[in-house]
Amino acid sequence: KVSPSAAPERLPFCRVTEEDLAFFRKILPGRTIVDPDLVEPSNVDWLKSVRGSSEVLLRPQTTEEVSQILSYCNSRNLAVNPQGGNTGLVGGSVPVYDEIILSTSLMNKILNFDSISGVLTCQAGCVLENLSFYLEERDYIMPLDLGAKGSCQIGGNVATNAGGLRLLRYGSLHGTVLGLELVLADGQVLDCLSTLRKDNTGYDLKQLFIGSEGTLGVITAVSVLCPRKPKSVNVVFLGCETFEQLLKTFQLCKGMLGEILSAFEFLDSECMRLLNTHLKLPNPISDCPFYIVIETSGSDPTHDAQKLHNFLEEAMTSSLVSDGTVATEEAKIKALWSLRERVTEALTHDGFTYKYDISLPVERIYQLVTDMRKHLGNRAKSVVGYGHVGDGNLHLNVTSPSKDPALLAAIEPFVYEWTASCRGSISAEHGLGLKKRNYIYYSKQSQAVALMGNIKAMLDPKGILNPYKTLPDNLKQ
Ligand code: FAD
Ligand code: MLT
Ligand code: ZN
Repeated sequence: KVSPSAAPERLPFCRVTEEDLAFFRKILPGRTIVDPDLVEPSNVDWLKSVRGSSEVLLRPQTTEEVSQILSYCNSRNLAVNPQGGNTGLVGGSVPVYDEIILSTSLMNKILNFDSISGVLTCQAGCVLENLSFYLEERDYIMPLDLGAKGSCQIGGNVATNAGGLRLLRYGSLHGTVLGLELVLADGQVLDCLSTLRKDNTGYDLKQLFIGSEGTLGVITAVSVLCPRKPKSVNVVFLGCETFEQLLKTFQLCKGMLGEILSAFEFLDSECMRLLNTHLKLPNPISDCPFYIVIETSGSDPTHDAQKLHNFLEEAMTSSLVSDGTVATEEAKIKALWSLRERVTEALTHDGFTYKYDISLPVERIYQLVTDMRKHLGNRAKSVVGYGHVGDGNLHLNVTSPSKDPALLAAIEPFVYEWTASCRGSISAEHGLGLKKRNYIYYSKQSQAVALMGNIKAMLDPKGILNPYKTLPDNLKQ
C-alpha cells in the first residue's frame, strides 16, 4: 500500500537537452543558470524538508520572456516549476524531479500606484516587504502581512492565496486583488490586469488563479487594492489561563474595539518555551498557558487609546486575562509582533517539523492540540498550537529530533480525520503543494476535485505546470 504522502512517480516529461539550453540562453542571456551551486537553493524548500533535482533555473524579467519559455516548454513537453520567494510551507515551491525552475525574482518592478484609488500594480516578483515600504512612504499599506514578508513575493502570495496577520481586517486576496496578468501553459498571455473595483463582465477568471499554486498559469503581474496607512497603531500582548478565556477575550475585543481591531493572534506556552529556548526571546509578561497578540489600527490616536483602555480594564476586571503589556511605539510593537511571527523559525530549531494548517469553527481550534498531545503521548518532542484566532485558523505543529515516519503515521490521518469530523479545512492558508495533495478529499467533495482536474486539463493539457502539486495523484494525466 502506497502512503498518500509518498513521493509520486516521475511523469514522462522530456529531459532538458543542450539544444533546449541553447534556446533558453538565446532568450535569457546570462539568466539561464545551470551552475549546480547556484541552482541548489532553489531545489530546497524553506523548511529544508523536500528537495528536487532540477539542473536549470530560468530568471525572466518580462512577461514576454515568460511567454516564450512556456510556449517552448509546452511544445517540448518539459515540466516547469514556478517559484517566487521559496517560502512556501507545503513543498509546492520546489521541483520534485528535474522540472525547470522558473523564478520570478527579477520581475520586481512597480508598474503603477494610483494615490486616489490606492491601487498598486506591480510585477509578480516584488518582495512583499519592499511593497510595504514603497506604500508606507505614500501613506498606504499592503492589505496583507506575514512573517515571511522579507522574502516572499506578491506573485507567490497570490498563487498560495496567503492569509497572514491582517486578514481579519482587510479580507483575503480574493477580495483585494483586482487584477492579474498571467501566462498560460502554452505561452498565451491572459491580461486580466484590471484595476477596477467593480467588473461583472462575465466570469471573474482571475479568481481561479488565486490559490492555484502555480498549477494553472504563471502570474506575471498583480494589481491590488491597498488600505490607507493607519495614523495610530497599538499592539497588546496578553496572557490567559484557559483557551475558553481567550475566546471570551476575543468576543469582548470584537465588541469593544470593533472597527479598529486589525489582528487577533494567539500562541500557547509551548511556543513561548521554544521562543525562549531557541531564539532567546524573553516573555514580556508573566508565564501563562496562552498568549494573545491584539493589534488596533485607526485614524485617531486619542480615540483608539480610549477604546483600548476601556477594553483592557474590562478584560482585567472580569479576570479574562491575567497579565499584559501595551505598545504604541514602533520598536516595542515590532518586538511584541516578533513573539508571534517568529514561532515558525523557533520550531525549525527544535527539530524536524510536521506542520498542519487547519480551519475549524473557532471554539474547537485548541481542542485539536490537546487531543493530539494525548494521542501522541511521548512520541513527539513538542506539540504546539498558534495561529489566527480571528480567522478560525490553527497552526498545529509537531516536532521530532529528526524525520520520523512512525511519528508521521501517528499524526496522519488522525489530524485529517479529526478536522473532517468538524467540517474543517485541512489547508486554511498554505495550500496543498506536494505534501497535502492526496488529503484533499478530507475537505473537498470528489465531484469538486474532479472538476478541478477538468479545469487543470483544459488550461494545461500536457500537465507541464508544477506537476505533482495540489491535485491528488489519482487525477494526474
Ligand atoms: P513560493 O514559496 O516561491 O511558491 C509558493 C507556491 O506558489 C508554489 O506552488 C509556486 O509554484 C507558486 N508560485 C510562486 N510564484 C508564482 C507565480 N508568480 N505564478 C504562479 N505560481 C507561483 N502563509 C500564510 O498564508 N500566512 C502566513 O502568515 C504565513 N507566514 C509565514 C511565515 C514564515 C516564516 C514562512 C517561512 C512562511 C509563511 N507563510 C505564510 C507561507 C508562505 O510565506 C506563503 O505561502 C507565501 O505566500 C509564499 O510566497 P513565495 O513568494 O515565497 O512563494
Ligand atoms: C504563521 O501564521 O505564522 C504562518 O502561517 C507560518 C506557520 O504556520 O508556521
Ligand atoms: Zn499563518
